[in-house]
Amino acid sequence: MRLLVTGGAGYVGSHCVRELVRAGHEVVVLDDFSAGHRAAIDSNARWVDGDIADRALLDSLFPVEGFDGVLHFAAFLDVGESVREPLKYFRNNVAGSVVLLEAMRDHGVRRLVFSSTCATYGVPPGVPIVEDMPQVPINPYGRTKLAIEWALRDSAAAWGLGACALRYFNAAGAASDGAIGEDHHPESHLIPLVLQVALGQRPHIGIFGDDYPTPDGTCIRDYIHVEDLAAIHRIAIESQPPGLFRAYNVGTGVGCSVREVIDAARQVTGHPIPAVVSPRREGDPPQLFADPSKAKRELGWQAKFRDIRTVLQTAWRWHQAHPRGYREAAEG
Ligand code: UFG
Repeated sequence: MRLLVTGGAGYVGSHCVRELVRAGHEVVVLDDFSAGHRAAIDSNARWVDGDIADRALLDSLFPVEGFDGVLHFAAFLDVGESVREPLKYFRNNVAGSVVLLEAMRDHGVRRLVFSSTCATYGVPPGVPIVEDMPQVPINPYGRTKLAIEWALRDSAAAWGLGACALRYFNAAGAASDGAIGEDHHPESHLIPLVLQVALGQRPHIGIFGDDYPTPDGTCIRDYIHVEDLAAIHRIAIESQPPGLFRAYNVGTGVGCSVREVIDAARQVTGHPIPAVVSPRREGDPPQLFADPSKAKRELGWQAKFRDIRTVLQTAWRWHQAHPRGYREAAEG
């Protein structure tokens, strides 16, 4: 297939581009490089430096490239920033996606895979989370992703868009061959921060609260390996029929606490990784983990990385080889 990947220079997008290229698809990345990295883009993919909200750019690309489908990753994703600057998030994530959808509609492209999130569930009524639980996000980031899901659902009914929303849990890990990995600025995610402690770049990891109603008092999340994420995107775009909206939870089905992540990282790195309990971070639900059985049943997909230690091993390999992330690559 000829595929457009928005945000293909970002963490999940770049792993997905590799998966698509390896499967024989022809990929064009559209990224404004505000957060993505050129060095993360597979050398067999082409890239365009631009914004999804630039309609003139999309109008120049679509007729020439004749895309069969779009994988849409481009978005801002910092939950705390979304609380402080909600309109920045609504403009980029929602308004930008609307421009992209209008271009798809007008150029006859009817297949989309969308990077959604378990944050659309907010604080779920129970775990594991199933797809038909109420979507009541508790922060602007989650609300922008849910608003896009609504636009996809309504577009499927109105003009025949085929769209698949993949609601990821916590994306984690790096490419198995060590080629690409996770590099956010500033970094806020647990696993890269823990590994920065192991590299001696931080004195300790802060545990955001140990008084949650969980067995060890710390928050439980479902860490899904980025290559497993890439695989389900490929399967979703290859199997997406026009005119249908569908949504899947993308997780391992196994919950892992903050303390369990830190303990596993100690085993993998051999570093003591000092941890300091600090206050709760606002807006963190105590427990989020997926029931991924719908994706298995309907798409034949399930996570291959099921042990947090193997996930951490891939991340550790990347962070050791790239202690400053992609900066060496850009400067070298
Ligand atoms: N945590 C710490 N200390 C840290 C960082 C994180 O204890 O220094 C804890 C958090 O409180 C949370 C867990 O580690 O319990 C994971 O936190 P992350 O920040 O790595 O990820 P989130 O669970 O906050 O991820 C959420 C949503 C995703 C969404 C993402 C946006 O679950 O769907 O925010 O970046 F994509």
